Amino acid sequence: MCGIMGYNGKQNAIPIVIKGLKSLEYRGYDSAGIAYLKDENVKIIKEKGRITELEKLLDDDSSNTAIGHTRWATHGSPNRINAHPHNVGDVIIVHNGIIENYSELKEKLISNGYTFKSETDTEVACAVIDSIYKETNDKIKTIEKLKDVLKGSYAFLILFKNDNKIYTTRCGSPLILASNIDGNYIASDIPAILPYTKEYYLLDEGEIGIVDFEKIEFIKNGNIIKKEKLTFNFSVSEAELVGYKHFMLKEINEQPHIIKEFLDYYFENFDLIKDISKYKKIHIVACGSAYHAGLIGKYLIEKYGHIETNVYIASEYRYSDNFITKDTLVILVSQSGETADTIASLRLAKECKAGTLGIVNVVGSTIARESDEVIYINAGCEIAVATTKAYTNQVLTFSLLAYKLGIKNGLISNEDALEIKKEYYNLPNEINKILKLDYKSLASKIYKQNDIFFIGRLIDYYLCLEGSLKLKEISYIHSETYAAGELKHGTISLIDEGTPVVSIVTDTSICEKTVSNINETKARGANVILVKRKSLVIDETCYDELIEITDMSDLVIPMLSIVPLQLLAYHVADLKGLDIDKPKNLAKSVTVE
Ligand code: M6R
Repeated sequence: MCGIMGYNGKQNAIPIVIKGLKSLEYRGYDSAGIAYLKDENVKIIKEKGRITELEKLLDDDSSNTAIGHTRWATHGSPNRINAHPHNVGDVIIVHNGIIENYSELKEKLISNGYTFKSETDTEVACAVIDSIYKETNDKIKTIEKLKDVLKGSYAFLILFKNDNKIYTTRCGSPLILASNIDGNYIASDIPAILPYTKEYYLLDEGEIGIVDFEKIEFIKNGNIIKKEKLTFNFSVSEAELVGYKHFMLKEINEQPHIIKEFLDYYFENFDLIKDISKYKKIHIVACGSAYHAGLIGKYLIEKYGHIETNVYIASEYRYSDNFITKDTLVILVSQSGETADTIASLRLAKECKAGTLGIVNVVGSTIARESDEVIYINAGCEIAVATTKAYTNQVLTFSLLAYKLGIKNGLISNEDALEIKKEYYNLPNEINKILKLDYKSLASKIYKQNDIFFIGRLIDYYLCLEGSLKLKEISYIHSETYAAGELKHGTISLIDEGTPVVSIVTDTSICEKTVSNINETKARGANVILVKRKSLVIDETCYDELIEITDMSDLVIPMLSIVPLQLLAYHVADLKGLDIDKPKNLAKSVTVE
């Protein structure tokens, strides 16, 4: 949530910061702003809307030092006044996160004579910094005090008037710093830095980064510290469209290649797929699509590992009685590794002395660093807000965990293990076939609809949940998913002549039951799009449109069955002419509660 970019160096900082913000726009895009040093003064320019709106207000000024922000509103509507940077007294800041005790702090500051222009928690944080600085007259001491005063999460870039350094600190929200011969860079995420260097530092909580014209310094507890440099494994093209109309389409199409790389790496290093057989129960905790991946994880772990597994939405888990014991393994699933509720659940699990395993994409993210063990899903840089390739690799990770359990406890024989391994390696090939089908004409039949229903059972139900989320988040069509057998307990009253119903039928054990439920909708006029396992014989009268998926083990087929639903969602949104990579009201990583 919210993108932050700063630069201090030999080049003109303004275009560098604007370019960086554009590559971070997936983190929030309702308003944007920049502050830069100009002849001993700080100039602040901000605007409602996308960064292109901000650009219209920029002249050809230049500066060596600038900070910028692209916002996902939390406090106050997305307008110019609430946009960052904020300035109070001698302090100018941009902020990612939420200051939870801002009302209390604001009252105190008002009684001390401060006035506020915006509705934001950030302006309050800015006034806090200014007031502490007025007392201490020491910038480092001021920033160090923040952790005692501010509750919540923050990543700040701070400018002080009459000082050409950028100061930075964080709690919860991520920040990375990097240098090259042209200067020094600070950003919320990798894509902003990628055009300049592949080496970077991660700012840890409790540390302060000071970025001047020539160097970056890190301070902890008042002392300068040395930090380890990390290296991105990404190429610049990962953060570029390279001919695709949207990042979502690019990322869907990257799946065969990414899966192949994942398989090569983890079959070479099979011990990195952790053996989780010693645990008595497993809790999988995540949000959104990661939660949907977890549901498939539950199905496969229970089937092949015979370990009781439950899946929880992180924002619920963190406030529930979960009966976590030392014998529990809590698996945190997160693409970004920075989702606030998932981090809070991880910390809760650790307090309860459970084992913790992160299934994470972003290397060095909070969940990756704080979990006892981590499996990286190696999906590369995912830019589109709607996740596709990261979801698929999360499911694949669960699949390999279950495969390992199945081999260990004899539920998968050596012979079957080899066959399944071949199927894993055939997945890229099969996905490539699915990618080539015509989704545009399918999409043209439903893109004008107001409501769509997805139905399936067991693993197919979990896939439907993900397909439906994909569709609604980027096409804004109301879409609901039901366990197929549940439909007749109320929802079937919504099925009318022409209502689109998407169904997945790959689970052979329950196929006939699902087909009966499909028929119930068909009898009420539904327009059925069926995604089915090739070998299943289903009467033609049951569906209007058909997509067939090659037969594979249930350990492998989910990564294939999801692809048509991703593409259907994409083409529906594209026909509606929507901003697919940046759907309204959303942001890529949800670093606030
Ligand atoms: O970074 P995370 O995997 O923790 O994010 C979790 C959800 O916010 C995320 O999967 C969200 O649901 C996606 N935008 C859905 O496409």
